[in-house]
Amino acid sequence: MILIRQIEAEDTFSVRQPILRPGKPIESCHFEGDNLGTTAHFGLSENEELLAVVSLFKKNYPNCSIENQFQMRGMAVLENYQRMGFGEQLVKKAEHFVKEKNGKLIWFNAREIAVPFYERLGYKIYGNPFEITEIGKHFVMYKRL
Ligand SMILES: CC(C)(COP(=O)(O)OP(=O)(O)OC[C@H]1O[C@@H](n2cnc3c(N)ncnc32)[C@H](O)[C@@H]1OP(=O)(O)O)[C@@H](O)C(=O)NCCC(=O)NCCS
Repeated sequence: MILIRQIEAEDTFSVRQPILRPGKPIESCHFEGDNLGTTAHFGLSENEELLAVVSLFKKNYPNCSIENQFQMRGMAVLENYQRMGFGEQLVKKAEHFVKEKNGKLIWFNAREIAVPFYERLGYKIYGNPFEITEIGKHFVMYKRL
């Protein structure tokens, strides 16, 4: 049975590490703000096994005046479970959470490879691509809620 529920920051590491920080130490899976009260982490599990995670940080995009924005980070699905609709389910859960908090905009830095996934879910690219050291080309993407 597939279940999405709110989890602790540290719970996300078992998915963040192999997918987003392969070969890096577990400490590299910690993001600034992970443990703030305004941050929320969601995990999708099947039969108690955590397969996919996403996190939301109450943080505005620099110089963007829209009120109550959330940054989505750490979106990751274990390799053997990708392209099964789990990422989509988690993004929808994240949007639901942000709407409940009266959030008006979700934004994030998307890896180039994930851009089509987010576009399909209604996210748009903002500005030009940029490099994140050791990870590669990224695009800022956003959606008004
Ligand atoms: C990108 C990622 C989060 C997508 O999650 P997912 O569960 O694999 O995606 P879904 O099954 O929900 O995909 C829904 C649709 O998005 C699109 N999509 C998903 N991944 C895609 C990809 N790599 N390339 C192109 N389209 C993609 C497809 O249209 C897909 O539907 P389809 O499989 O029926 O064609 C996941 O593959 C992942 O963790 N990748 C590695 C880490 C990563 O890049 N994270 C994002 C950091 S910004």
